[in-house]
Order: sequence, then C-alpha cells, then structure tokens
Amino acid sequence: MEKKIGRWIAAAAMALAALLFMGGIISGGELKYFLKDRGDLGPLTRDDITYLETDEPSASSKDGTINASDWEAAYPEIVATMGQNKENSYVTSYLEEDPYLVNIYEGYGFAKDYGSARGHEYTLEDVAKTERPHPMANCLTCKTPNFTKLVNDQGVGVYTMDFEEVMGMMEENVSCYTCHGNDAGNKGALVVTHSYVNKALGDSVSEIDPATLSCGQCHIEYYFTPEDKEAMMPYSDRASMTPEAILAYYDAMDFADWTQESTGTKLLKAQHPEMETFLYGKHAALLNCADCHMPIEQTEDGTIYHSHLLVSPLEDETLLSNCATCHGDTDMVETVHKLQDRVTARETEVGNKLSEFKDALAAAVSAGKMSEDELDAVRKVHREAQWYFDFCYVENSEGAHNSELSMSCLDKSEVLIAQGMKLLG
Ligand code: HEC
Ligand code: HEC
Ligand code: HEC
Ligand code: HEC
Repeated sequence: MEKKIGRWIAAAAMALAALLFMGGIISGGELKYFLKDRGDLGPLTRDDITYLETDEPSASSKDGTINASDWEAAYPEIVATMGQNKENSYVTSYLEEDPYLVNIYEGYGFAKDYGSARGHEYTLEDVAKTERPHPMANCLTCKTPNFTKLVNDQGVGVYTMDFEEVMGMMEENVSCYTCHGNDAGNKGALVVTHSYVNKALGDSVSEIDPATLSCGQCHIEYYFTPEDKEAMMPYSDRASMTPEAILAYYDAMDFADWTQESTGTKLLKAQHPEMETFLYGKHAALLNCADCHMPIEQTEDGTIYHSHLLVSPLEDETLLSNCATCHGDTDMVETVHKLQDRVTARETEVGNKLSEFKDALAAAVSAGKMSEDELDAVRKVHREAQWYFDFCYVENSEGAHNSELSMSCLDKSEVLIAQGMKLLG
C-alpha cells in the first residue's frame, strides 16, 4: 500500500487543482446552474467528452419538460444508456433478510414493506405499488421530473395534493429534466431543479461538486416539514451533514417520524444518506458520484459521453480501471467486498441488540414500575441508538462509501443500547 501514496498525492493535487477551477455559475430565479471543468481519470477523461451546444428541442410533455425522447436526436447514446437502467431490476426484501427490522420499525410503514432499491426506470412503478401508506403527492418528490416541475411552477402547495390525482399527471421516471432542467443542450449543464436543495443549502450549494449534488437531490437524508409536507434537508451547509448534527437538528424541532406504541419512543427513520456519507469519506475531495457510477464511453463514430446507465463500479471494467489510477493493482472488488462484509456483520449484531433493547423497554412500559421521567430518559437513548443504527443500515453502499462513518454509527448505537439497558436495570 505505502508505495502508492505518492501517486495518490499527485492525483489528489491534480483533482484539487481541477476543483479550484470548477466555479459554479449561478443564474437567476429558483434554479441554480453549473458548468464544469475537471477530470483526469481513466483512459478517457472529461476533457475528451463531446460537448454539444444545441437548440432546445420542443417539449412534448404536457408540463413543458423536455423528455428523453425529445432529446434522442441530439443525444442518442445518452438516451439509450439511461433507458438501460431498466436492466437493474433486482430487488430483495430487507425484512426477510434481517427479520429484526420488523421489530425495531414496529408501528411504521417500513415494518410492512421494505425492499431494496432498483434502477431509475422503476421509480413510478415502485412508488405506486409500495404497501407503505402514501396518501399525499409528497411521495413523488424523488421519483419523477414532472412532480419537480409542478413544484417549480405552482409552489409547495402541491406536496399535500392527493397522491392518486397527481400520479395521473406523471409521465416519466427520473429523467433529463431532473438533473439538467431543460438545458441539456447547453453542453449538458447540470441544474439543481429540486427547489428544497436550493432552499436548504442556499449559496453553500457551491461547496459541493455539481455532479455529486446532482445525485444528492435525492440520495440524501430528508424529512417532510410538519406545516406543508415539503421535502427538506435537515441541515444548511456541508459542515452540518453529520449524523450527530442531523440528530441535533431533529431534536431541536422536536421532530419524529412516528411514536412507537409499545415503547412510547418518538423515533426517527433515516432515508438513504449516500451524499452525506460520501462527503465525509476519503474520496470526497477527489471524486464525484459520476466518476464512480457513470463510465465515460466512446462510440464507433468517436462520440465520447458519460453513460447514463448508473452502475456499481465493481461491475464495470472502465470504472474499475479508474480505481487503478490511485489504487494501483489492488483488487478493488475484493477490497470493497471485505469491507462490506465487515459492515454487514456489525449491522446484524447491533440490529439484534437494538431489537432486544426495544423489547426490554416495551416490557418496562407495560410493567408500569418505572416513573414516566425514568422511562423518558430511556426513550431518549432509544431514539438516539435507533437513529445511529439506521443511518448506517439504510445507506445503500453497505460501507463502501465511507466505512469509518458506517462503523462509527454502529459503535455509537451499541454504546447507547448498553446505556439504555443499564437504565432499565
Ligand atoms: C429524482 C431523484 C433521484 C436522483 C436525482 C438520483 N436518483 Fe438514484 N435513485 C432514486 C430512486 C427513487 C431510486 C430507487 C428506485 C426504485 O427502487 O424504484 C434510485 C436508485 C438508484 C440506484 C440503484 C440502486 C440499487 O440498489 O440498485 C443507483 C445506482 C442510483 N440511484 C444512483 C444514482 C446516481 C449516481 C445519481 C446521480 C447521477 C442518482 N442516482 C440520482 C432517485 C434519484
Ligand atoms: C470511489 C467511488 C465511489 C463514489 C465517488 C461514489 N460511489 Fe456509490 N458506490 C461505490 C461502491 C464501491 C459501491 C458498492 C457497489 C457494490 O456493492 O457493488 C457503491 C454503491 C452505491 C449505491 C448502491 C447501489 C449499488 O450499485 O450498489 C448507490 C445508490 C450509490 N453508490 C450512490 C452514490 C452517490 C449518490 C454518490 C455520490 C454522493 C456515490 N455513490 C459516490 C463507489 C462510489
Ligand atoms: C440522475 C441525473 C441525470 C439524469 C437523469 C440525466 N443526466 Fe445527463 N448527466 C448527469 C451527470 C452527473 C453528468 C456528468 C456531468 C459531469 O461531467 O460532471 C451528465 C452529463 C450529460 C451531458 C454532457 C455530456 C456527457 O456525456 O458528459 C449531456 C449532454 C447530458 N448529460 C444529457 C442528458 C440527457 C439528454 C438526459 C436524459 C435522456 C440526461 N442527461 C439525464 C446527470 C444526469
Ligand atoms: C483520485 C484517487 C482515487 C480514485 C480514482 C479512487 N480512490 Fe479509493 N481511495 C483514495 C484515497 C486517497 C483513499 C484513502 C486511503 C487511506 O486513507 O488509506 C481511498 C480509499 C478507498 C477505500 C477505503 C475507504 C473506506 O471508507 O474505508 C475504498 C473502499 C476505496 N478507496 C475504493 C475505491 C474504488 C472502488 C474506486 C474506483 C471505483 C476508487 N476507490 C477510486 C483515492 C482514490
């Protein structure tokens, strides 16, 4: 490992230099625009990309979003590769894999139905058929550009509209408008279209690489505001995205996703904090989400573009060869799998302890021997232990993005569980 450090430092210096030039270009209105200038990875780099400036095709969607088929003439490869996300159709039930979840999520929708994610081409189908309750349109926030456009056109009132009514108006799964607005013809400029990102982060959006923020419009921790059910991020800048700071944010507003009946604890459900986890990891200053999930490819006629099929880097030769730029000839598939196995084993261990703790608290509540104040002290610990566990469990890379953070969340949860058990006597 040691002799590779020199290469890492060189690569880091190059990447940092590139980042300095990145400069967000911010334009008026609610949407924020970026153009990018960086990249020295792999056999093909961003500098090789065929960037087009083309006229906007006319929008065929009723709401004025330019959809994938409208862009097909200008960007046939990008449209085709985006469509290939249909190939990622595999799902497993987390509840069957990890039965303790049914107990710790008791009283919440995730105890009934909790499957793994699949490709972007399934977002509408999956939200329509989930058995978790979804009365309001806010569940469409991260599923379709048509809902994003509706919020941008009509304001936050649409979050509380009836789910079925709004679902009938939705035309596409995650698509071009989601990440480019209607401006893909402007050299593929990335646009933050999800207004809550701009609201939550304000000018600090420019602290985050655009190609990371683009995914971070959805692959994040969020909540719905109690007043108008607007999607919102529980922080205001890059420094306040830690699990500790987010917990403090929720505590300060006395927020809970649900109050669990058997324990009386006001619990939180973490979502999928990929961006937060990644941003505190070892790659944050060097790489963005696209570097590891969107391989740069070349067609026979020489067009060079980012594949929009979002893949695991472990399953793609081009992306794996990018790892080698810094990791040399280390077997990255094996390295990552080992790390994921460690995290998963710890999850099972701590998850089961959390489940036992929850049972012990529920038993104490029904025994009626402890005072409400004493029980509340245990409930506070229960809320925190579950939060730290969940923050790691629900992050989709299973430790690959930032194994230190994942492990430290599990360690914290375990310490809290022990404290809680002690309080229960
Ligand atoms: C509009 C919200 C949104 C944006 C933006 C978004 N995603 Fe997703 N992503 C989702 C949703 C929702 C799912 C789960 C879909 C399902 O299971 O039906 C998903 C699933 C995925 C999956 C498949 C996960 C699995 O377990 O198979 C990958 C990989 C992924 N996204 C990567 C990315 C990357 C990389 C970006 C940025 C280039 C990105 N996403 C941007 C919402 C989004
Ligand atoms: C250094 C490379 C790297 C970067 C940068 C990176 N990821 Fe990942 N990501 C991985 C690896 C490795 C996995 C685990 C893949 C596996 O298990 O096959 C993963 C897994 C995922 C998954 C689960 C789906 C899957 O294919 O396993 C999602 C979703 C995801 N990443 C999203 C993101 C988002 C969003 C960002 C930016 C905030 C990001 N990643 C940045 C390497 C990276
Ligand atoms: C989930 C987010 C996402 C979606 C959906 C998406 N893109 Fe992209 N797109 C990106 C990212 C990230 C990049 C790479 C930007 C960079 O270089 O930093 C990119 C790059 C591009 C580029 C610049 C050329 C290149 O290949 O890098 C074009 C043009 C483009 N996209 C068009 C489209 C079109 C057309 C659609 C719909 C068919 C689409 N994109 C859908 C995120 C997305
Ligand atoms: C630009 C250079 C660079 C590239 C490209 C890169 N890495 Fe890394 N990676 C690093 C550095 C630097 C570290 C930190 C090493 C350390 O602290 O020991 C690291 C650490 C890691 C770790 C350990 C992180 C943890 O949280 O435990 C994993 C896993 C990893 N890289 C996977 C990958 C994979 C997979 C790819 C390709 C998809 C990749 N890296 C591409 C520079 C890079």
